[in-house]
Amino acid sequence: MLQFEQTFMDFLIEHQERFNRTYHFLILMNSILNSAKRIQFYYQTGALHGSLGLAGSVNVQGEDVMQMDDIANELVKHYLRRSGRVVHAVSEEEEEIIPMNVEGGRYFVYYDPMDGSSNVPHNLPIGFMFGIAKRNLEGPEDFHLRAGREYIASGMFVIPTGTFTLAFREAGCWRFHIDETMNYVKPTRMALPEGRRTWEISYNSANRDYYDAAVQKWLAENERKYAFRYMGSLAGDFHRILTNGGMFLYPAIVNHPDPKKNRPSGKLRLMYEAAVVAFMCREAGGSAVDERGRDLLDVAPEKPHQRTALYVGSGPLVEEIGGILRKS
Ligand code: AHG
Ligand code: MN
Ligand code: MN
Repeated sequence: MLQFEQTFMDFLIEHQERFNRTYHFLILMNSILNSAKRIQFYYQTGALHGSLGLAGSVNVQGEDVMQMDDIANELVKHYLRRSGRVVHAVSEEEEEIIPMNVEGGRYFVYYDPMDGSSNVPHNLPIGFMFGIAKRNLEGPEDFHLRAGREYIASGMFVIPTGTFTLAFREAGCWRFHIDETMNYVKPTRMALPEGRRTWEISYNSANRDYYDAAVQKWLAENERKYAFRYMGSLAGDFHRILTNGGMFLYPAIVNHPDPKKNRPSGKLRLMYEAAVVAFMCREAGGSAVDERGRDLLDVAPEKPHQRTALYVGSGPLVEEIGGILRKS
């Protein structure tokens, strides 16, 4: 018997019709899917073409940019612009907000075209992550940098693995897999498991001595109850947490012996990393907080590349650490 899996686009058309929505979002998602498939293609063939090395420039965060980051960024920009639906975009790879269809666009897109760049030279999993907010259609638009709570959707591709996870505001978090025709298929609704048996803890353990004392204490008392996994790509690490439960954390670094290496605001970027996974996590039944124990979805960005600490995953763990952070 032939088996036909439902494609992402088919799923989305049904979704938009069920919720009485326009097709604008579909057109936007089509451009995001086109970008992801192209990134996937370049990434798979990059090792052969020698484009997985360093590009020799630095990005706005002062880190090395690899050729793949540039390629991925250009691809996403091209397809977003072509969609005609995007007012402004924010990319990790560009200092300034990128104007697109400023008059007629409907959406703001915040994206990290290539997350987990240290995996690139190894051809190991990286992410393409994005958050989407909608323009205020009634009246003048006065702000373009929205808090996670105002996203209408967020998602991530794990490349070249071929998985795509997308969350809709108040309509769940869904995962798809790429098939041999390069279609994302087989929607599966994600829900964080309640039982702790599969839970995992994920963080860069090389930094553990530099965290706030209360965070170190919590880790010392709790982490051994769970499996430990760390891939070095938020998209990949969070992908596991979403399936298995537990918590991913990238705390603030406040006790480094070399004070220049402290990161009191954390490392990850609010708009296109932390809020993206926090939004997906909430739709899968979990939550996220920042270093002050605030719900991460309530943190309003003051600038496009704002950093934040991140604790994201199963509700009970995030609530516990959140309570501790609010007191410390
Ligand atoms: P990017 O490659 O977009 O700069 O992001 C890297 C981020 C994130 O993916 C990952 O979770 C984290 O940096 C890893 O940082 P460490 O190398 O400090 O563990
Ligand atoms: Mn990133
Ligand atoms: Mn990146």
